Amino acid sequence: MNVTINGRTQHFRTVSFDSGTNSVRLIEQRLLPHEFKIVSIRNFRDTAKAIRDMVVRGAGAIGATAAYGLAQGIRAFRGGDLNAFSANVATVYQTLKEARPTAVDPVNAMNAVCAAMRAGESIEEKQSLALAAAEEFANEDVRHCEEIGRHGAGLIRNGARILTHCNAGWLAFVDVGTATAPLYAAQTAGKRFHVFCDETRPRSQGATLTAWELAQQGISHQIIADNAAGHLMQRGEMDMVIVGSDRVLGRTGEVTNKIGTYTKAVLAARHKIPFYVAIPLSTIDWNLKRGFDIPIEERSENEVLGAWGILERKKEKGKRKKERCYVRVANPASGARNPGFDVTPPELITGIITPAGILRPRDLWKQREVLKS
Ligand code: MRU
Repeated sequence: MNVTINGRTQHFRTVSFDSGTNSVRLIEQRLLPHEFKIVSIRNFRDTAKAIRDMVVRGAGAIGATAAYGLAQGIRAFRGGDLNAFSANVATVYQTLKEARPTAVDPVNAMNAVCAAMRAGESIEEKQSLALAAAEEFANEDVRHCEEIGRHGAGLIRNGARILTHCNAGWLAFVDVGTATAPLYAAQTAGKRFHVFCDETRPRSQGATLTAWELAQQGISHQIIADNAAGHLMQRGEMDMVIVGSDRVLGRTGEVTNKIGTYTKAVLAARHKIPFYVAIPLSTIDWNLKRGFDIPIEERSENEVLGAWGILERKKEKGKRKKERCYVRVANPASGARNPGFDVTPPELITGIITPAGILRPRDLWKQREVLKS
């Protein structure tokens, strides 16, 4: 999407690859909205670390990063021994897979890279097929988000007040985003609407990333505390909810998303407000049979016990420098529990906005031939 900084507007993708230096290039999301910076990552172990430490986050974005990271590790291999080459592929794959467990997109993305590589006979050929497949995953992610926008725009009526949770915007994908795609398409169609961004504690992706995106695109919005949605729904101040997802079970229609999503879905059902989930096809897990088996990431208790922000310090020669700082908020003698995601059952979901159209959650399985092709 376009980013305007100091009056200068430029188009960026969240994730890209520089084949000349074999580097993965990422927007450093931990600095947003205070600083816009691109980082170049030169080996697959550091790429996995960038996923783990949330330099990059969001299902499609970590999918593309894992695909590029796999190609990066494969391209760094030297020598002619095919067995050693395969062992290297397995190490790179496993390292990237373990970086974050809940989103299925990295696994689907890396499986696509491995499948494409099989057509190559020499190591060199496999290396170039791996990068081409990673590029194709990234480009397909963008196409899927654009299709979601086309299908979802009709759901946004003029004057609508829409709740979104966490960040399923372009920063969570390669470009455009999923939950935001219908918003951007409706804006292009000339509709006016207002978005409530759940703050999304503990890491505040709504307050920092979604709010920054919407401000950049000139969309009317306000940040609300995570606990405020019920009150606004009860007072008739919300018309619909659109969220993204990190893993949707194709067999059951269960939706995994950032912690707090399930609570919002229960509230929306209580107040008869439509609840939509927007996903690219790489977010569908066709194998798992029940939501209970989805690996839910447990993150550091420090995320709950404190918060990050930016401090501006005065340095030598009167120059000011921005620094990312952590402050402890909670009682010093207390610990915390920090599950990163929850699972929303299909009966609470009005529709899943996919690149192939809007489906009821339980119809994903019926449509699997179309959705898998
Ligand atoms: O922990 P994060 O920030 O990687 O969480 C992922 C998310 O951004 C959300 O769960 C999002 O709503 C779906 S991913 C596009």
